[in-house]
Amino acid sequence: MTNTSNDTTPLPLSLSNEVSEKDKIFLSQYYQLTSNSEWYLDTTNDCYRINNPAEKLSLTLDFREGNYRHRNQNIGKEPLLQAVKIKGKLPQTLIDTTPGVMKDSIMLASRGIKITAIERHPLLFVIVRQALSFLDLDIDYHFGDSSILLPEFSAQVIYLDPMYPSKKKSAQVKKDMQILHSLVGKDDDAEKLLQVARQQQARVIVKRPSYAEYLGNQTPNFSSQAQKRGATRFDIYL
Ligand SMILES: C[S@@+](CC[C@H](N)C(=O)[O-])C[C@H]1O[C@@H](n2cnc3c(N)ncnc32)[C@H](O)[C@@H]1O
Repeated sequence: MTNTSNDTTPLPLSLSNEVSEKDKIFLSQYYQLTSNSEWYLDTTNDCYRINNPAEKLSLTLDFREGNYRHRNQNIGKEPLLQAVKIKGKLPQTLIDTTPGVMKDSIMLASRGIKITAIERHPLLFVIVRQALSFLDLDIDYHFGDSSILLPEFSAQVIYLDPMYPSKKKSAQVKKDMQILHSLVGKDDDAEKLLQVARQQQARVIVKRPSYAEYLGNQTPNFSSQAQKRGATRFDIYL
């Protein structure tokens, strides 16, 4: 499976009968709906679950469940929380241009930041939208390409966390990231997104692995120090 709302060839996708009519109609614009695709969408506990039995991948997105709650209860020292601060204070508004499975957005929203999130992968969009309906957080969730939609919104901070190629397929890559890699592929156009973001009136923050070059070789004004080897670095553009 790949990618985005910009793709022209519809990929095959199977849906269970529990997928809502509204979501079926939406997905039919981007996928060839069939009964025997490699990827299969069904539901559990009113949330969507995406399955790929051949790759042994399955992910239920349920933000009410333990992992999400755990992170949100232990966030005092979250490096992202430190990185988004402006003069020591959390911003009031932030646009997440690459929300993925929403871990970062939910963590930031649970600290009172008003989030606008724009996701371009149609299947991921549907799964996340359903899971968000159970949360009471200030998240305005949109479908589309951020590099096109960004100028329609404004916020103090614009956040980018594009996919980067994983160094190796290892057991350490978390299950939700494995499935994200498999579903979404690489975000090879992230450099363009950074260019658009930097044209807006906002502080721009790019999440990178510590070993990676600056995105698009654009030198930031400063970077957060990665705490340990292999950890995350945040590049900040003023
Ligand atoms: C590495 S994941 C982000 C993970 C996310 N920070 C989280 O906490 O779950 C990157 C996501 O950004 C999306 N994406 C990449 N470029 C985008 C763009 N130009 N517009 C909208 N979404 C984009 C991809 O489809 C993918 O879902």
